[in-house]
Amino acid sequence: MSKFAERINSMENSAAVVKRLFGAMNDPEIISFGGGAPAREALPVDIIREITNDIMRTEKRGFEALQYGPVVGIKDLRDVVVNDLLAPKGVSAKSDNIVITSGGMEAINMLCQLYINPGDIILVESPSFVHSIEVFEMFQARCIPVNMDDNGMDTDDLEAKIIQYNPKMVYVIPTFQNPTGITLSLERRKKIAELGSKYDVIILEDDPYRDIRYSGSDLLPIKSYDKTGHTILANSFSKIFSAGSRLGYILANDEVSNKLFDVKTATNSHTSMLPQILCAEFFKRGYYPAHHKMICDLYRERRDVMMECIDKYFPKGTKRTTPDGGLFMWVELPGGINTTELLIEATTNPEVKVAYVAGEGFYVERGGKGSNCMRISFGGVSPDKIRVGTERLGKLINSKLK
Ligand SMILES: Cc1ncc(COP(=O)(O)O)c(C=O)c1O
Repeated sequence: MSKFAERINSMENSAAVVKRLFGAMNDPEIISFGGGAPAREALPVDIIREITNDIMRTEKRGFEALQYGPVVGIKDLRDVVVNDLLAPKGVSAKSDNIVITSGGMEAINMLCQLYINPGDIILVESPSFVHSIEVFEMFQARCIPVNMDDNGMDTDDLEAKIIQYNPKMVYVIPTFQNPTGITLSLERRKKIAELGSKYDVIILEDDPYRDIRYSGSDLLPIKSYDKTGHTILANSFSKIFSAGSRLGYILANDEVSNKLFDVKTATNSHTSMLPQILCAEFFKRGYYPAHHKMICDLYRERRDVMMECIDKYFPKGTKRTTPDGGLFMWVELPGGINTTELLIEATTNPEVKVAYVAGEGFYVERGGKGSNCMRISFGGVSPDKIRVGTERLGKLINSKLK
C-alpha cells in the first residue's frame, strides 16, 4: 500500500496541469506552442564543445568539475552573476549573497523550505506560473490570487490582500510574465518593494525572462528598490544560456543567504560542478554579449511573426498581449470557446496537430477562470512553423464559432 505524505495530495491539481504541459512536447508530429523551452538555435552548443575540451584537456580543471564543490556554488559563477547580470541592472550585490541553485525551480523550492509552513498564505498573480504553484502547494501553502492588468500585479489589490490575509510571501514574476508576457510597471515595482518592508512580507521576485528584452526600455528589478531585505531575487540561466544545465541563483541578504547554505546542504549539497564551470567560462571568455544579441533577435522575429499570424488567422474579437521580451503571449478567445476542450481536438485532429497550454490551469481560483484563454509560447518554434501552426489552429477556432 502507498503511504504517501499528505503534501502529495495538496499538489494534485497543479501537478496534473504541469504533466499535461510537458505531455504534448513529446509528440514529434505536433507543432507545439506549449512548453517554455528555449529555441534549439539559442543553445550555444559549439562554444560549449570548445570550452569543455579546453577545461578537460588543457586547463586540467577536470578534477574540479568531477569533484564535490562549494555549497553555495563556485566563486567564478557567483562573480558572473554579480558583475555581468546584476550590476548592469542596477542591483549591487556581493558574491557572498549569491547562492547558485540547480535551476530556477530549485531556488523557489529552497525558499519554500526556508519559509513555508503548512497553511501559510502565498499571494500570487492571477494568472501565475503553474509550476511554482505546484511547489507552493507541495509545501501545503494556500495560494491566494491577486488581480493583474496590463501593468502587472495590481498593487491596490495586493495591499488589500496583505491586510486581509497576513501572507508569509508574495510571489511575483515581474518581467515578461509567465504565462501572460506582461511586464510590471516601474511604479508598481517600487510599490511592491515598499509593501514588503511595510508589512514585513517576503517578496519572492522570480525573474527568469528579464534578460530577454527585445523591445521597449529596461526596468530595474524590484530588488533594486528594496531597502530592508524583504525582497529575494530568484533567477535562472535556463533561458539565456542552457535549460538542461539546470542553473539558477538566489540573491538575498546576509541572514537569508546564511540560512540558504543550510537548506542547500540538506537538499543536494551543491549544484553540479561541470555546468557551473562551463557557464562561468562562457561568460568570462566574453561569449555572452554576442549570444545575448543573437537570442534577442531570434525571439523578436518569432514574436513579430506570432503577433502577425494571430491577428491574421484567429477570429475577430481575439485579444492578445504584446510582450516586449520573453517567450510567451496570452490569447483570449471570443465566443465562449473552452480552450481546455479545444486542446484535445487541436492535438489529436490530424488536420491540426497543434499544442498550446490552456488558460485555466494558471489560475489558482479555478472555477472556470481563464477557460477561454491560452498561453502561446513562440520561442521554440521557427517562423515557418508558427505560420503553419497558427493557420491550422485559427481554422479550428473559427470552425467552432460558426
Ligand atoms: C516564471 C518561471 N520561474 C521559474 C522557472 C524555472 O526555470 P528553470 O528551468 O531554471 O528551473 C521558469 C521556467 O520556465 C519560469 O517560467
